[in-house]
Amino acid sequence: MSTPDALAESTHTVTVTVNGAVRTATVPARRLLSDFLRHDLGLTGTHVGCEHGVCGCCTVLLDGSAVRACLLLAVGVQGRDLTTIEGLAAKDGSLHPVQQAFHDHHGLQCGFCTPGFVLSACDFLADHPDPTTAEIREGMSGNLCRCTGYQNIATAVGAAAATLRETGHDPRARCPGSDGDTGTGSNARGALGATPNESGTTGRGPDGAQAPARRQGHDEVDR
Ligand code: FES
Ligand code: FES
Repeated sequence: MSTPDALAESTHTVTVTVNGAVRTATVPARRLLSDFLRHDLGLTGTHVGCEHGVCGCCTVLLDGSAVRACLLLAVGVQGRDLTTIEGLAAKDGSLHPVQQAFHDHHGLQCGFCTPGFVLSACDFLADHPDPTTAEIREGMSGNLCRCTGYQNIATAVGAAAATLRETGHDPRARCPGSDGDTGTGSNARGALGATPNESGTTGRGPDGAQAPARRQGHDEVDR
């Protein structure tokens, strides 16, 4: 029969670079990256919806590539470089071009899905600098939104692409002087993703419902 000690989960010290700052925390072996960011590092702009890799709310950039933080373990990203929504804007409050486009084109309503959409768009636009509307809809089809109907999101991503081409800003790069390591600090930007998750950590969407499957999300993008 197992003793309590045998059942205890081992802990590990994880050190990562998040938004340009080195962060360290000691966590249980099975701590999800999404929980590590939110609970251990205080970066609550990374939202949690389905916790099954379906909704895309928890998307962050890992060494520049969009990943779902709910599908990774914190110990698995030891020594890696992460960008969360808190890291995109500049310290003076200037938004990253993708955030600015979502703002300008009203690509959000409640904002719960927005951090994931913005970071997915950063990765997508790095590979598709001049996307067609069809490519945008396909590229964003892994992220689900319960509010907007997607038209404004697609418009925002298209507008961001134009701005990025014009300015030469690397879509995956944080704005100069970004200050994301402060968690809920000076560059918190409301529904654009950097404020604490008002919906809590229940693992559900803003209306409490389980997120639909990806293919359904794709269909919704096509509307
Ligand atoms: S995909 Fe990670 S919370 Fe939904
Ligand atoms: S704006 Fe996307 S879930 Fe509300």
